[in-house]
Amino acid sequence: MSDHLTVVDHPLVQHKLTLMRDKGTSTSEFRRLLREITQLLAYEITREMELTSTTIDTPMEEMEAPILAGKKLALVSILRAGNGMLDGVLELIPSARVGFVGLYRDEETLKPVQYYFKAPEAMEDRLVIAVDPMLATGNSSAAAIDLLKEAGATNIRFLCLLAAPEGVAKMKEAHPDVPIVTASLDRQLNEKGYILPGLGDAGDRMFGTK
Ligand code: URA
Repeated sequence: MSDHLTVVDHPLVQHKLTLMRDKGTSTSEFRRLLREITQLLAYEITREMELTSTTIDTPMEEMEAPILAGKKLALVSILRAGNGMLDGVLELIPSARVGFVGLYRDEETLKPVQYYFKAPEAMEDRLVIAVDPMLATGNSSAAAIDLLKEAGATNIRFLCLLAAPEGVAKMKEAHPDVPIVTASLDRQLNEKGYILPGLGDAGDRMFGTK
């Protein structure tokens, strides 16, 4: 994956995203849509996973068939909203190892504060996909990637639902080696660091909190 930012403009992704943005969409519907959209985005972010081949017998004949090379994969959820995307990717790649980064955003400074970190072993050998629906200021995303690199990761991708130009710029500056896949590059952030037009607080919308 060579581009720093990939916006997946597939009609199914865009349709589901519109439903998610609508403030009338219920919590359960929001969660379901997030899981579905994540699987479509995961299709894009995993498209360069290495294949090898294996010999199988179809009902017709023997064939040499492609199969994942079994390179280790780690999914890392950036808490708490990342968990809404994690399930979707895990359904596609059930054998992936899972890590968690707990960061909350100080509402005054908009800076990330770490409260939890747990990563699978041998991060240096893994393709690491970090998931967080909202790339807003980019501060917490960049801090999460810092932690993953400190844990040894060298091959990292970032999967989000919405990105703000400010967040993309921050990630490009801090981690130009980490490609980003998203469903939309939105217009801007507001003064509180929320994405416009956005969809509001992703965690609140998926967990029904306020
Ligand atoms: N986090 C969210 O949940 N929503 C935003 O718009 C920005 C950050």
